[in-house]
Amino acid sequence: MSLNNPFQVNYDEIFVPNYTLPELFLCLDGTEIKDVDEWMKKRRPEILELFKTHMYGRLPEERPGCFRYEIFDTEKNALGGIAIRKQVKIYFTEKEDPSLDLLIYLPVDRKNPAPIFTLLHFYGNHTVTEEKAIPIRPQWDRTYNKYIPDENTRASHSKTIPVRKIISRGYGVATAYYGDIAPDIKDCFSHGVFGAFDHIFGEKRPSDAWGAISAWAFGLSRIMDYCEIDQDIDSKKVAVVGHSRLGKTALWAGAQDRRFAVVISNNSGCGGAALSRRKFGETLRVINNAFPHWFCDNFKKYNENEENLPFDQHMLISLIAPGPVYVASADEDLWADPKGEFLSAKNAEPVYNPFGLEGLPCDDMPDLDRPVMGAIGYHIRKGGHGLTECDWDCYMNFCDKHFNYKG
Ligand code: GCU
Repeated sequence: MSLNNPFQVNYDEIFVPNYTLPELFLCLDGTEIKDVDEWMKKRRPEILELFKTHMYGRLPEERPGCFRYEIFDTEKNALGGIAIRKQVKIYFTEKEDPSLDLLIYLPVDRKNPAPIFTLLHFYGNHTVTEEKAIPIRPQWDRTYNKYIPDENTRASHSKTIPVRKIISRGYGVATAYYGDIAPDIKDCFSHGVFGAFDHIFGEKRPSDAWGAISAWAFGLSRIMDYCEIDQDIDSKKVAVVGHSRLGKTALWAGAQDRRFAVVISNNSGCGGAALSRRKFGETLRVINNAFPHWFCDNFKKYNENEENLPFDQHMLISLIAPGPVYVASADEDLWADPKGEFLSAKNAEPVYNPFGLEGLPCDDMPDLDRPVMGAIGYHIRKGGHGLTECDWDCYMNFCDKHFNYKG
């Protein structure tokens, strides 16, 4: 096969290899899972371990560090009076560093604790809204790959998190900059939470030590810890969202931490929702070469060797069952393999059914901009790679359906 593009990746269905997905209900010891109870007690923990060992990596211990936070800003009249704003510093250890700044907006106009969307974002909290009270932290910036604070970038990414719209639908938002947890660079392992905890491993990082996606997911769980103590947030209605590499992160966070009530993956692609065995768009070789710090070292064994993975990404989604999960693609985002994302969501369905849930109520990929929503949701939007207002509309509709939200 000759592929006429610089990354030597395939964008043609004709070249998708024949593959067989590993079976959801067949345990490593050959026993077959017969009911929900066996799934939860035996197969689910086994699959979770496989993902830790071979892909995302394992934390140095079950729950490293402590949970400490400080609310450093509360404004009851934010965004022109429609929202309450809070800013919270969450520390990972007894020391000042590392820490993450959580930016929270909640609707003022509500009787009960607010359901919220939580997400990590790419550029610093000051890029989310125009409010001057959001400090610019000296931090690693992915555009320049160095630490730079910059006033010119205030509100520059407000489109990816349409806070006012989210508030008007009765939801809150809690968001943090992913670089506060660990910088997205190849030698991240002496910084952020890695710098704080990797000494627990001893001299050498093991081949299944956590990669950056696991570190960011760890940060999301600490945000969840905070949600559980904030009386203004309904901690039973926290939806975790993520775009692209942070969509991979949202899925991995939701697979491990069952406190997230809804899990949403936006254009997460390879290493996220897309099936690895299809080798369509980005492949394991390509992702491991470009981003060697995202996954554990063991994952590199599967470069050009996808068929020997003991799982595929439908099993990542299956770990979220019976929790609602939403996978979203964009038709021009072939790099992320929209069809592979759909098939992954669809192939997780057999785990939802025994819980009495309908899974993903469509047999084939739906038409463009026609979201389908069961316990599993899916849409393919027109356009390119990105988190857009249309995507957010679907996520809010999906959460309305599952939270049965009544203000
Ligand atoms: C790259 C990478 C993807 C990733 C994306 C992103 O394109 O290859 O795997 O999802 O960056 O995070 O924007």
